[in-house]
Amino acid sequence: MIGWRPAQLIGVGDPMSLDDLAIEYRGELPTAEEFERLFRSSGWTEAFTVPADRLEAALPSAWYAVCARRGGEAVGTGIVLSDGVLHALIVDVIVMPEMRGHGIGTEIMRRLVARCQEAGVLQVQLFSARGKRDFYERLGFVARPDDGPGMELSGPP
Ligand SMILES: CC(C)(COP(=O)(O)OP(=O)(O)OC[C@H]1O[C@@H](n2cnc3c(N)ncnc32)[C@H](O)[C@@H]1OP(=O)(O)O)[C@@H](O)C(=O)NCCC(=O)NCCS
Repeated sequence: MIGWRPAQLIGVGDPMSLDDLAIEYRGELPTAEEFERLFRSSGWTEAFTVPADRLEAALPSAWYAVCARRGGEAVGTGIVLSDGVLHALIVDVIVMPEMRGHGIGTEIMRRLVARCQEAGVLQVQLFSARGKRDFYERLGFVARPDDGPGMELSGPP
């Protein structure tokens, strides 16, 4: 698990490329259909084993979400699960494969973290997918120390 250090969140985003792409960002969830499309595009193996109704059932648990749209179509999302005070967990940060590498993921992250900051949430954490560590470190997140790691139960019950 990766935690966030407030002082390091500087200089994120790339306004020039975002303007060129005419991406609209809203603090809202994608629809269930949009979320399913995004989730199944993620490349995560579990994306293909979770049925659509289970995916939809996950959405109301969001404390905050950002949906990025281009021409009305969802091209990216990110969700925060939180108690609003102590802990926030950033999950499901996904950009459609054909739209990656233009700063959309960074802008989604910037907005998710900003909302947590506004609310004064103490700890903002996430699990970095394989190969995405650099992406989150550029946003100011740091890996937890070896003697205080994030932990999870292996596999579904
Ligand atoms: C992780 C993910 C959300 C990043 O989204 P993205 O929109 O591609 O993110 P960004 O464009 O902001 O940054 C990605 C890369 O593009 C680069 N980039 C950003 N703006 C750019 C621009 N204008 N021109 C060229 N490159 C740019 C960034 O430097 C970054 O480099 P990297 O490939 O070395 O990491 C996306 O790869 C994804 O959906 N992956 C599958 C799901 C996943 O694993 N999510 C993470 C869950 S922990």
